[in-house]
Amino acid sequence: MSQLIDPFLRPITYLRLSVTDRCDFRCTYCMTEHMQFLPKAELLTLEELHRISSAFIRLGVKKLRITGGEPLVRKGIMTYVRAMSRHLLSGALQELTMTTNGSQLAKHAAELADCGIKRINVSLDTLDAAKFTQITRLGRLDQVLDGIRAAKAAGIRVKINTVALKGFNETELFSLLQWCAAEDHDLTFIEVMPMGDMEETYRIGQFWSMEDLRTRLAERFTITDLAEKTGGPARYLRLEETGQKIGLITPLTHNFCESCNRVRVTCTGELYMCLGQEDMADLRAPLRASASDAGLDAAIRAAISRKPKGHDFDYSRAKVAGQVSRHMSHTGG
Ligand code: GTP
Ligand code: 5AD
Ligand code: SF4
Repeated sequence: MSQLIDPFLRPITYLRLSVTDRCDFRCTYCMTEHMQFLPKAELLTLEELHRISSAFIRLGVKKLRITGGEPLVRKGIMTYVRAMSRHLLSGALQELTMTTNGSQLAKHAAELADCGIKRINVSLDTLDAAKFTQITRLGRLDQVLDGIRAAKAAGIRVKINTVALKGFNETELFSLLQWCAAEDHDLTFIEVMPMGDMEETYRIGQFWSMEDLRTRLAERFTITDLAEKTGGPARYLRLEETGQKIGLITPLTHNFCESCNRVRVTCTGELYMCLGQEDMADLRAPLRASASDAGLDAAIRAAISRKPKGHDFDYSRAKVAGQVSRHMSHTGG
């Protein structure tokens, strides 16, 4: 079966699949306090998640990242993860991974490792318990730290994702670095993105640019920019004094679009060809229309044939926010 290649000759080998829009946290930059979640009937069933993922793998996807919402709050999720691990065993899939808030990791880490998950991304914006509860509204720092420890103990490599927020975690830049160095976790900082209702966060001026963050790092460390390209949005640098590799994600830059290898599927079966564009294809209808996968495969191919060149997030335009109205928990980041 021929591989998925988009109009700009980019092979599509990476699927990010959101398995739920629900989350046990309500991070202020991600969700509103009284978030309305989707009715269950809208969600793909575990079986449908399995069918969609397997279709993409059949069409050449080699890396699968499970996202949400919080993937580990989805009921029965481990059944799905176990099913995906069979694609790892067969060699069809090269990497199975997850982005999680860590709250349920302590419970699942050993089984995730057993399913062949070798690396996991955990969101963590602060190491201060009170601030953690403030930013996540419902989260407890201890629980997440327990989860991270459990993952490490199970042999899973942890990458910490920290959303850079002015006036919130600016003061923790060096303590976060130090903690990650001591625990041997990778660390990536993410510029806050204008999605969903979070124009609010922008208005209160929480935007902290990666450029400024880099300048602060340079005050204490010798920085080497790494050429490394992973096909993802992160740029990497090394702090010579500690040897640490730090990722910086500036979602509004175009530096990675030309090598984009990824698409996203939401928990309702919408295929988004680009995080920064509104165009999508409904995969749930062809999936539910027939027990055969022919229609599903055709819908995936048709969608990939209109994958755009890149996103249009742009600071030079008057309106930064609102260009993408979806919440991060909807598309899975
Ligand atoms: P890999 O790309 O697999 O290395 O994963 P990652 O570390 O980028 O994934 P993760 O789920 O931890 O996402 C980190 C941040 O990157 C999130 O804020 C995502 O929204 C953002 N991100 C991931 N992919 C893209 C992309 O294609 N475009 C943009 N603009 N942002 C992205
Ligand atoms: N801007 C930037 N990053 C965000 N995330 C969630 N919402 C936003 C936003 N508005 C991050 C989470 C997680 C990753 C998948 O996306 O903190 O680490
Ligand atoms: Fe949940 Fe992640 Fe959104 Fe926070 S950023 S509310 S942990 S999905």
